[in-house]
Amino acid sequence: VFYGQSPPVYPSPNGTGIGDWADAYAKARALVSKMTLEEKVNITISIPQGEDHVTGCEGRVQSIPRVGFPGLCLADAGQGLRNAELVSAWPVGMSVGASWNKKLALQRATGMGAEFKKKGINVIFGPVVGPQGRIVKGGRNWEGFSSDPWQTGQLVYETIKGLQGAGIIASLKAQHFVANEQETRRSTSTFFYEDENTTQAISSNVDDKTMHELYVWPFVDALHAGAANIMCSYQRLNNSYACQNSKVLNGLLKTELNFQGFVITDWGAQHAGVATAMAGMDSAALPEGGDYGTMLWGLNLTLAVRNGSVPETRLDDMVTRTLAAWYKLGQDRDFPEPGAGFPADHTLPHDTIDARDPKYDDVLLQGAIEGHVLVKNINNALPLKKPKMLGIYGYSARSRDYYEPNSVLGPLQDDYGALDHVIIDRNGTVYSGGGSGATSPWLAVSPWDALLQRARKDRTALYWDFQSTNPQINANLDACLVIVNAYATEGTDRDALRDDYTDSIILNTASNCTNTIVVFHNLGARLVDTFVDHPNVTAIIFAHGPGQESGNGLVSLLYGDVNFSGKMPYTVAKNESDYGSLLDPTQAVEPYGQYPQDNFTEGLFIDYKAFDKAGIQPRYEFGFGLSYTTFNFTDLKITKNNSARFDQYPSGEVLQGGPADLWDILVTVTVTVTNTGEVPGAEVAQLYLGIPGDEDVVPVRQLRGFEKPSLLANQSATLSFPLTRRDLSEWDVVAQKWGLVTGDIKVEVGSSSRALPLVGTLTL
Ligand code: NOJ
Repeated sequence: VFYGQSPPVYPSPNGTGIGDWADAYAKARALVSKMTLEEKVNITISIPQGEDHVTGCEGRVQSIPRVGFPGLCLADAGQGLRNAELVSAWPVGMSVGASWNKKLALQRATGMGAEFKKKGINVIFGPVVGPQGRIVKGGRNWEGFSSDPWQTGQLVYETIKGLQGAGIIASLKAQHFVANEQETRRSTSTFFYEDENTTQAISSNVDDKTMHELYVWPFVDALHAGAANIMCSYQRLNNSYACQNSKVLNGLLKTELNFQGFVITDWGAQHAGVATAMAGMDSAALPEGGDYGTMLWGLNLTLAVRNGSVPETRLDDMVTRTLAAWYKLGQDRDFPEPGAGFPADHTLPHDTIDARDPKYDDVLLQGAIEGHVLVKNINNALPLKKPKMLGIYGYSARSRDYYEPNSVLGPLQDDYGALDHVIIDRNGTVYSGGGSGATSPWLAVSPWDALLQRARKDRTALYWDFQSTNPQINANLDACLVIVNAYATEGTDRDALRDDYTDSIILNTASNCTNTIVVFHNLGARLVDTFVDHPNVTAIIFAHGPGQESGNGLVSLLYGDVNFSGKMPYTVAKNESDYGSLLDPTQAVEPYGQYPQDNFTEGLFIDYKAFDKAGIQPRYEFGFGLSYTTFNFTDLKITKNNSARFDQYPSGEVLQGGPADLWDILVTVTVTVTNTGEVPGAEVAQLYLGIPGDEDVVPVRQLRGFEKPSLLANQSATLSFPLTRRDLSEWDVVAQKWGLVTGDIKVEVGSSSRALPLVGTLTL
């Protein structure tokens, strides 16, 4: 196989009901055996929103009352149910990444999953574990957790556990499966741009090692956690569309990773009928207006089975996988009518289903808090101390203009509307990004809302100007908050990582206010070098997409009621050019004509791994974040587990996710962390491994552990980082197995990817 090509892998493996899927498979097989050909074909298609005229479900698998199957409702997305009433707007994926908090990720997913269930959503289109942020301007990086696959893997594991614990099928859309790293040319030009001549979607050309160690890595954690649905992506992968790529679906996903659930297409990502069926796709989501008679599956799939082009066993497998997922999540027993709480038209009479649960109020708030990262704080600017007079500036301080009515769909942050692709200054403050991952922030509290409450309590006089780029400033203000944003949305990549308009608000405020505190609601990296060294810019905060508790979270941090504990889940550079070829999405139409190509030749070197390799000092490195206290690291110990096997390859049973013994713990690293400051705080302790090898192939350090203890002043904790066989292996492209590393491995532990005071060696 040559670079950028995808070898054929056929036939499509049947799901076998391995491990804890056994019961679900037995039930699914029994149900499938009662169905006619037409009924089975019906299970494989999702009628799009609007076509059933009743529910707001993005996709709707129709019911088959004759056999007692009620159908399925499928809906967006990973930070809450979109276009719905009486649901919560959760912190976005990138905020979960910034929190580095596994327990919080689990709680968030449990609460969010419960809301989807109450609304009768069987399949949630989330979480996102790709894009992984390869392209810094990527429009959807914020839907995922982090630009590091290991961190993403840990957080997606908890998220799947939480969502599926709530009884809904988590569709893992890796924006999707797999290597869908940019919005530009994500699909055919006719689908998105209505060009006359079809230009095919960009082809992400990824080598086998990079595929395993970077792009597929977090999917494996999701599968290991039991994920029951995967969404294949829009773009081409090694020149074959991801939803008809037999190497990826039949080979990687269904053989190597023994996936037992079902693969669904992204919307409009199906480009062939028989070929998609044979390549391992199980469920077709229709483009809007898809017609049952002319769609690629539907009647055509029935015909294809009748004339032998698609074996009936393949169809049976598609349906068995789908129904097995439904049984495995217990949706046959304890589930509302699909889409019951999710009407298509809220102006018509409908049952009111309040999906929210006060039990999760704290999780919403904590999620907002821990997603904030403090990156600069000089002159004791923060925390604020009962300011007498406070100025509030910038377009992201206050919610949308209340003179504009809400739509009956709710106060949507934004849909696919035309935006500047850099900031959002029409809707006011930002709670989430836009597109299918947008949220429904009904009860959202903006920074202004929360600041006003706090000011009343403290008798602080407020001064504000949300519009001017050069606000008039009272010379006696204690501090000036400048609250601005860096926006991103599905369907388009970001135009820039900074903008003059926003920078002018910051610089003009700073020239008249000696204590200027800058807050970004940012859905991706935002450069700060135009003002970072201005002596009057005393603090900078990356707030990300905090969800509905945005204002409350920010205010509790600004006033020191709680401490900052978030850390960067991506790198902020000093200059655009520091990101090199990974700054902009690839256009690559020339010289490839209608077949644009994107060669992922950088291999594993995205984000901090690229900066480390090039020796470039970032402005804020991966893993960095300040606190109101300080921490100290001591006592690094590396202990091998003597009862574990240290042979070269795993040999365990291949469960969903891979050989079971990949998760055996071979080594445990322990360290002590002490809060050496004066106030309580939580520290994200990070462990990186330096695996020996060619520096053009193997990064100098790769994240392989993080823990987040909360510590009172002077308190210490001993943390332990278990290292599994998988953590200590590299993908062996010859053996096609994970091979255990041998030699001296550098072990580093500390507070960021560039502050690693503890160093040791592990010899394998
Ligand atoms: C396209 C998006 O890529 C996907 O994430 C979403 O689930 C579907 N549209 C449905 O809205």
